[in-house]
Amino acid sequence: TTVEWEAESYDMGGHDTYMHKEISEQAEAVDRVLRGRIDDRFSTVHLGGLNLEPGEARRVRRIKILGCGTSYHAGQIGAGLIEELARIPADAEPASEFRYRNPVVDPDTLYVAVSQSGETYDVLAAVQELKRKGARVLGVVNVVGSAIAREADGGTYVHAGPEVCVVSTKCFTNTVVAFALLALHLGRIRDLSVADGKRIIEGLRRLPGQIDEILKTEPEIKQLARRYADAKSMLFIGRVRGYPVAREASLKLKEVSYIHAEAYPASELKHGPLALIDPSMPTVAIVPDDDLLEKNRAAMEEIKARSGRILAVAHQPQEKADDTIIVPKNENELDPILMGIPLQLFAYHTALALGRDIDKPRNLAKSVTVE
Ligand code: G6P
Repeated sequence: TTVEWEAESYDMGGHDTYMHKEISEQAEAVDRVLRGRIDDRFSTVHLGGLNLEPGEARRVRRIKILGCGTSYHAGQIGAGLIEELARIPADAEPASEFRYRNPVVDPDTLYVAVSQSGETYDVLAAVQELKRKGARVLGVVNVVGSAIAREADGGTYVHAGPEVCVVSTKCFTNTVVAFALLALHLGRIRDLSVADGKRIIEGLRRLPGQIDEILKTEPEIKQLARRYADAKSMLFIGRVRGYPVAREASLKLKEVSYIHAEAYPASELKHGPLALIDPSMPTVAIVPDDDLLEKNRAAMEEIKARSGRILAVAHQPQEKADDTIIVPKNENELDPILMGIPLQLFAYHTALALGRDIDKPRNLAKSVTVE
């Protein structure tokens, strides 16, 4: 309940900021969202509150995910997971944009509202408009009993626990894991094989340990952050699975450090952002060890050829990059869950080096309950 959360929220548990505390809690938080949901017998997961019968799940033709800020980015990764694992066309859109463009509300589309607080006005208003038009809306929400959770037809809680820092970290990670569970569940009702279901479940089980491994590299990330903190602007690039990771990492950096940051698909570099590259504008590149590795290397080469500095987040050392943060490899589909975590620490230590008000960045609020 809210009361408990508030009491707990005063305790920083030995950390200097809530942001640091919340980043550090991610292994246990992910463990919590997985707990009791895995069904090894059928290589699937159970999501109790979904309120979606298997027959209904099979008839879904499209999934539309709505959220704001970090929740929108989590939804973008979620859409990718749903397409990959369940082969249902899916995409995410800012709830505010959706509301104001008189969207076509289609009876075969399943709508998913994503929100940490469950109170963001634009998301709530989008849900109410959808319900009024007879659409089926699920919630992927952290705060139990919140307005969006109550308004939705069903859904799943993210179980990240209380998040106090204005910028979202552990809830982002847990939301993406919740989407992986939803995608696996839908996939196993549709065409995902038992073998692939098992492979994803094993990958999910590795996450908490791998998150701990990433958190142990904090001293190195802190050094890196200090070296990049003098940048006036930074570019974040990624492709397909890596692109929403780049978007969220750029949002995190700008929110807490006030450094201008912009995310681009790596493939779009040559259509504009290359004009910005010079030694004073570093690029953070998300470089998973998957089928797009060579393409990402080529993008780094383009940047190097223009004397740009590169910080790569990768599964193995990248010779084109000036610095590389190595993260543990998981299944390709689940890589985005881990690749953003070192960049949360990077944003945190950049903000710390610049003396920012980390838990309460200027001009921002934890939940925006007005239009
Ligand atoms: C505000 C917060 C963000 C958050 C967004 C959506 O802008 O500063 O950190 O991502 O709202 O909030 P929600 O509670 O709906 O996830």
